[in-house]
Amino acid sequence: MSAVTVRVPAKVNVQLSVGGRRPDGFHDLATVFLAVGLYDHVTAAPAEGLRITAAGRDVDRVPLDGTNLAARAAVALAKRYGVEPDVHLHIDKDIPVAGGMAGGSADAAGALVACDALWGLGAPREELLALCAELGSDVPFSLAGGAALGTGRGEILTPLEVGGEFHWVFAVAEGGLSTPEVYRECDRLRRADGGSDLASDLPAPGADAALVAALREGSAAGLASALSNDLQAASVALRPALADTLATGLAAGALAALVSGSGPTCAFLAPSAGAATTLAAAFPAAYPALSPAPGATLL
Ligand code: C5P
Repeated sequence: MSAVTVRVPAKVNVQLSVGGRRPDGFHDLATVFLAVGLYDHVTAAPAEGLRITAAGRDVDRVPLDGTNLAARAAVALAKRYGVEPDVHLHIDKDIPVAGGMAGGSADAAGALVACDALWGLGAPREELLALCAELGSDVPFSLAGGAALGTGRGEILTPLEVGGEFHWVFAVAEGGLSTPEVYRECDRLRRADGGSDLASDLPAPGADAALVAALREGSAAGLASALSNDLQAASVALRPALADTLATGLAAGALAALVSGSGPTCAFLAPSAGAATTLAAAFPAAYPALSPAPGATLL
């Protein structure tokens, strides 16, 4: 069997409603994932043992050992099917590392699909999705792509209809933010406000009907007025410069701005492709991307 390559998209959470902290440490979510056309490529080639290499953006911050989520994905798949995890995984990165765009999750989903093909396992999609959910809250969506409501800790997906293309610009910050730290800061801010951060005290979050309708209608104006991210205050508290980044994008013509997931990448919704180009030029490192984008795809 020769090498196979899988293309996997980044995501932005156009709604990220965070409920309370559960006894298992995760937070109940109602999140609307939207896959965007910014991709990592994962190539699986025959090898003896498991080896990882990486190239592309932020490559010095990609771990090349067993802690890499793509390596963990290959090992989990091999174990599930009783085969040896013999593979050379090469990850070509375009998705920012630790940027709140599910880059690590994308690589895990890509590795699963690539190893499944390389090893000729023919794993059913439900099996791959179950393995994805074990690997991380965002990994099932990286496999699925398109748009979906994520509930539970984000891993339970309900596909959503998208009635048109949306133009985005992603402003990449230097250095990542740790997702667990951002959730901890969100909890701390809730307690500092005199509230509770516990799932037993807070109502379960739900999907925003206006946002779901805007996606279905392909309405950029509707989506712009409905964007929300409950982690944004925590990300900005940990990285105050993000407030300036968000303001810069709005001044440069964005319909709306928000932190992507746990940050620090900031997402700007643009009214057109031309406006997206102008917006991107307002930042030292910003990339236009279209949504929706397909999920993990064997090339
Ligand atoms: O599932 P994943 O490994 O991506 O989650 C990383 C971390 O983010 C978790 O260990 C947890 O601290 C936090 N998290 C959370 N609630 C979620 C998803 C993630 O608290 N729903």
